[in-house]
Amino acid sequence: MSNTMRIATKANCTMYTSHPQDTEDTPTNLSANEHFQTVVARAVSRRGFLKSGLGLSAAVFLAGPLSACSSGEDLFRKPEKTSSLLGFEAIPISTEDTMTVAAGYTATVFAPWGTPLFAGAPAWKADGSDTAAAQARQVGDNHDGIHFFPINGSSTEGLLVMNHEYATVKDGTYAWLFGANGTEPWTADKADKAMNAHGVSVIHIARSGAGKWEIKLDSRYNRRITASTEIELTGPAAGTDLLKTRADPSGRRVLGTLNNCGNGWTPWNTYLTCEENFNTYFGTTSGSDTRDAAQKRYGLMPKGTEYRWEQFVDRFDYAKEANESNRFGWIVEIDPFDPGSTPKKRTALGRIKHENAAYALTADKHIVVYMGDDQRDDYIYKFISDGVYQEGSDNATLLDAGKLYVARFNDGAAAGDFMGTGEWILLSKAANATLAADGRFASQAEVLIYTRLAADAVGATKMDRPEWVSVHPTSGEVYVTLTNNDKRTKADAANPRAANIYGQILRWREAGADAAATTFEWDLFVLAGNPVKYANRNDLRSGSANITPDNTFNSPDGLGFDRAGRLWIQTDGKYSNTGEYEGQGNNQMLCADPASKEIRRFFVGPKECEVTGITFTPDSKTMFINVQHPGEKGNSHWPDGPASLPRSATVIITKNDGGVIGT
Ligand code: FEO
Ligand code: CA
Ligand code: CA
Repeated sequence: MSNTMRIATKANCTMYTSHPQDTEDTPTNLSANEHFQTVVARAVSRRGFLKSGLGLSAAVFLAGPLSACSSGEDLFRKPEKTSSLLGFEAIPISTEDTMTVAAGYTATVFAPWGTPLFAGAPAWKADGSDTAAAQARQVGDNHDGIHFFPINGSSTEGLLVMNHEYATVKDGTYAWLFGANGTEPWTADKADKAMNAHGVSVIHIARSGAGKWEIKLDSRYNRRITASTEIELTGPAAGTDLLKTRADPSGRRVLGTLNNCGNGWTPWNTYLTCEENFNTYFGTTSGSDTRDAAQKRYGLMPKGTEYRWEQFVDRFDYAKEANESNRFGWIVEIDPFDPGSTPKKRTALGRIKHENAAYALTADKHIVVYMGDDQRDDYIYKFISDGVYQEGSDNATLLDAGKLYVARFNDGAAAGDFMGTGEWILLSKAANATLAADGRFASQAEVLIYTRLAADAVGATKMDRPEWVSVHPTSGEVYVTLTNNDKRTKADAANPRAANIYGQILRWREAGADAAATTFEWDLFVLAGNPVKYANRNDLRSGSANITPDNTFNSPDGLGFDRAGRLWIQTDGKYSNTGEYEGQGNNQMLCADPASKEIRRFFVGPKECEVTGITFTPDSKTMFINVQHPGEKGNSHWPDGPASLPRSATVIITKNDGGVIGT
């Protein structure tokens, strides 16, 4: 992806005319919801307005102080032209325990959980009997964010870095980590194995002359980072009291990274891994719930955790080590090209349930990192570095000082038109009067450690579970998946459906097309919905006009632009294919044209998986994605077949004619 954001002009505006983590709650009764009805009524009237050909609201919007690239007015107007960006034929849904990809493409399983990562590492055992020591030398479980770092610009050799988000547990039982051996008896070695299944893998890969990608097992770059690896805390909160523990009185050294969900990368070739649901690893064996308000806001477990590490490792028991959980929930920067380097938890970027991290550069080369906090009614953030990016430098401290903002999304010129303006609110103890007066934050370090509480205090907009953010490679428009929010009771402009079970993708344009701006315009790119279930297109549950019975999906999560500006959308939603989800099949990956808004299904995963993580070789001819938690309810043997446990894996997609993916 381009390293620099171009300044958008009116001309290129025209181009863009314009898991266990996911609870299985039953949606509330929509027809009974007054707020939903209000928004439907607005939308219907808005659509009637559009049919009459009067675009007054949009005209007013366009005449505003910011340069608008597109508007929400066409959200309910079908894409008029066939996309020239999408060159493949859309595929139908699948409910099979296999993966399906568009005609003319090949999808190949690569580096599944347990794959040996070092010469001499033990081969994976299909019965789950690998030890903790074996797991530490094998690829971890539940692949998620992923990035290909080319070696010397190569499209046939590089470092594939990927997250291992968690180990699948249901009701205190690990689903497959220990296979037929089961979770009981629960031992220290099993807890250690679970910790080693987490973290990050750095994998040196190369494509052979025959076109097959292989791991270079003897490479010095291969590395496992786990829940036990030593990591440095850096930035304004490092060394402060809330980050000190008995084992680390310096407040600067922490063991491990946890629940590494989505990812980012920097133009100086480092990987950003994002600690998401870290709260689910902290509980207590004390038998009583002694959590403080901040621990509750971050969702620490009241008693024991499903992972059960606290039974053997004291630091995961909040009653024994109250500050340990403050050392998780950060963005972690890893230099994959220096296998001896200590990863850095960058406290300047705030402590939330980080989904992913997408960078941009301001007009004067400060680095910006956009981030979502994946929880119902949580927020979207951006960090702007104090220092400027220096090409060719290691930029080693660029992420250690800067300003952290949280987003407020305001309504637009007309209610229910699915667009509006917004502002970035600075989370600064010194500069924000609300935070200055709030005794819960003794310092800026505490604003960063308790980022969520600070964002609550300043009136940020509560979003429908912000997942991945991605920046368009040329326009600089920023897109975010809002995966769903079945508990929302009050719709607002950016989150226009109560009891939102399908999700939406929102995008914004920074004022002056500069990522340094503190105001922006936004609109909805797509309201996911189900026109198979809801044929009446005036019902917002049917989705926006770019959703059809042929491309319907729910719960957009992974998101990434390719170099040509195709928007790849990955889902982590309900796969029952019945009721509200009829006609949507297994989780999948679709591709959208940002200009025409057309969306086509490209790939469908096996049963009970999610599709997540996306990266390409520099020539855009090899795509790497991840299939996570196939068979999370016990109904898959993907990819190895009936004799084997299901395994999360990377999937490599190539075009049979050797062309660019998506063409
Ligand atoms: Fe790990 Fe929000 O997905
Ligand atoms: Ca996700
Ligand atoms: Ca998700």
